[in-house]
Amino acid sequence: MKRKQLNIGLFGFGCVGYGLYEVLEKTPTLKASIKKICVKNKAKQRPIPSDRFTFDRNDILNDEEINVVVELIDDADSAFEIVSAALRKGKAVVTANKKMIAEHLQELIALQRTYDVPLLYEASCCASIPILRNLEEYYDNELLDSVEGIVNGSTNYILTKMSEESQSYQNALSEAQAKGYAESNPLLDTGGFDAKYKLLIIAAHAFGGVLKPDQIFNAGIDRIGALEQQYAKEKGLKIKLIAQAFKKPDGSIIAFVAPKFIKATDKLYQVNDVYNGVTLKTAFSEDQFFVGKGAGAYPTASAVISDLSALTYDYRYEYKKIRSNDHVPYSDDVLLKAFVRFDAADKAFVSDRFEEIEEQFSNASASYIIGEIALTEYIKLHENTSTSAILISVINEEVGDKFDIDELVAETELSDIA
Ligand code: HSE
Repeated sequence: MKRKQLNIGLFGFGCVGYGLYEVLEKTPTLKASIKKICVKNKAKQRPIPSDRFTFDRNDILNDEEINVVVELIDDADSAFEIVSAALRKGKAVVTANKKMIAEHLQELIALQRTYDVPLLYEASCCASIPILRNLEEYYDNELLDSVEGIVNGSTNYILTKMSEESQSYQNALSEAQAKGYAESNPLLDTGGFDAKYKLLIIAAHAFGGVLKPDQIFNAGIDRIGALEQQYAKEKGLKIKLIAQAFKKPDGSIIAFVAPKFIKATDKLYQVNDVYNGVTLKTAFSEDQFFVGKGAGAYPTASAVISDLSALTYDYRYEYKKIRSNDHVPYSDDVLLKAFVRFDAADKAFVSDRFEEIEEQFSNASASYIIGEIALTEYIKLHENTSTSAILISVINEEVGDKFDIDELVAETELSDIA
């Protein structure tokens, strides 16, 4: 098969942009070269000659020799302007911008269809793990039940450093920033927003339903305190930020992001540092597990390279599973088992939210309840900023048997928290 030559216009030359530049230099077999690079900051010193750069996006968008735009900028609104203008001009686009895709996925699908051009974004989800193309191509059937995983590298790095090296939250976050894992606004990572955007994209390719970002509840790691960390330690658990989506029998999709206690027998327990891991549950093959580095210049650039390579043989997402949007396929009707820490003053507010309470603990500095709670009530608890909720399992009857719902037996007593 004759492969296409790609003349690339690159937007952004930050951590991933420079990573891509270097990886492309080392991949001479790929028929792709960067013709121009558009950047914003005129004053910034860059490691390659200044004549490679432009500050005017039209120098790329109006260049007819450029047939591929690679968009690796930070600002999701400008990214959408650039990507949609490029698609309108018939240029293929590769992007890693999960926020931009999650906020505009329906429009981006429509643009691809109208202008008959591909938009690929494997690098937007789990960096080096080829999750989207697998969901799109291999799982082209109704047999996929659920997707659950660690999809944010920075938060996994922070949680690992806190639990295994007893680093402070702030110190671990600074390291994640220094290593180029975190977003420029790290609240996107620590608050679970980045994971939510990725989950939206993954759920669209898994189940064919395009949700809106504000339909997906996201909690982050920023409220995890000493009590729940000590609880995890004493029970041999780890706390991980988990994104999960699954289909109910009526076809609706439940999706949310929350910190969760993970047992040592769960494959996600071994996924540490900047690694991401995704478990797919299917009707006949049971669990399948994907793992790989989830952030950083080279892992992300490797996914961009893979998309570029796919463009040389005219690959595109066909969105075979995407349903029409007249029926928004979202549901929040799900029962959870959770651990909730709260201030003594909030006791009535918190206990009233539970359908069933299994365990309670209280001392002078903090209290917790473990029990069954509807997702909608869990969300109300999250709105109270002094509570911290950690998910234990999903216990809906319809989907429960597809999840690990073993009870967490209180084998040890939690020691007093100083
Ligand atoms: N900030 C993101 C993360 C970058 O830490 O996962 C990769 O998408």
